[in-house]
Amino acid sequence: MSDTASLSSARRRKKDDFYTQLSDIENELRYYKHHFQGKVVYCNCDDPRVSNFFEYFSKNFEHLGLKKLVTTCYRNQQRDLFSRHDCERAIYLEYFGDQDGNRVPDAHEIEVKHLKGDGDFRNAECIELLKEADIVVTNPPFSLFRPYMAQLMEYEKVFLIIGNMNAVTYKEIFPLIKADRHRLWFGPSISSGDREFGVPDHYPLTDASYRIDSNGKKYVRGAPG
Ligand SMILES: C[S@@+](CC[C@H](N)C(=O)[O-])C[C@H]1O[C@@H](n2cnc3c(N)ncnc32)[C@H](O)[C@@H]1O
Repeated sequence: MSDTASLSSARRRKKDDFYTQLSDIENELRYYKHHFQGKVVYCNCDDPRVSNFFEYFSKNFEHLGLKKLVTTCYRNQQRDLFSRHDCERAIYLEYFGDQDGNRVPDAHEIEVKHLKGDGDFRNAECIELLKEADIVVTNPPFSLFRPYMAQLMEYEKVFLIIGNMNAVTYKEIFPLIKADRHRLWFGPSISSGDREFGVPDHYPLTDASYRIDSNGKKYVRGAPG
């Protein structure tokens, strides 16, 4: 990779390595319980072994009455929250709910499967998983927000995005908020710039507002511009 390509890849990664906290998922999802009964949920930008979206939906599987939970990751087979994306392949995971009655998603109840490709949400095998899904829920990579949304529209999916507020100013996105056809709206718990996201250890903390917790984990407030 040339220096320029490497720099632009690093910039893109900086904007994409924002990880959603469980509390933010809980705060927003509590408004939608009735939508999930009997539904297949797909989180397509989520390493299932570490995603808080997987954590939320697997732990609330019975409470929400889900039929199936599927999560795919991107270029990662390691148990590493902030993948370096240095793997050509990826895994996905299927969960059909608690089978042994302890109401906990145990490892033996979670099927880990290998994807043929790198888990890009635009890959044919991920699109097949998308087609099977009733509701897509995630925080997608900011650098790919436009194609991500375009794909959801193309397949006419119901979706819930907890993402970067800057995207609402995009000319492709703003009209969707106004249009009746797609009925895109802000979530009740969402107001601009008030959320913290987890970031990788190597994330440069030059942003105005950040926090390091007692375990040394880094968080940034707001979203990358
Ligand atoms: C903003 S992070 C959010 C991660 C997770 N959804 C969350 O909310 O914590 C975006 C994620 O998208 C993944 N990603 C980047 N490019 C992708 C692609 N082309 N297809 C699928 N996922 C991708 C990254 O690995 C990263 O984990």
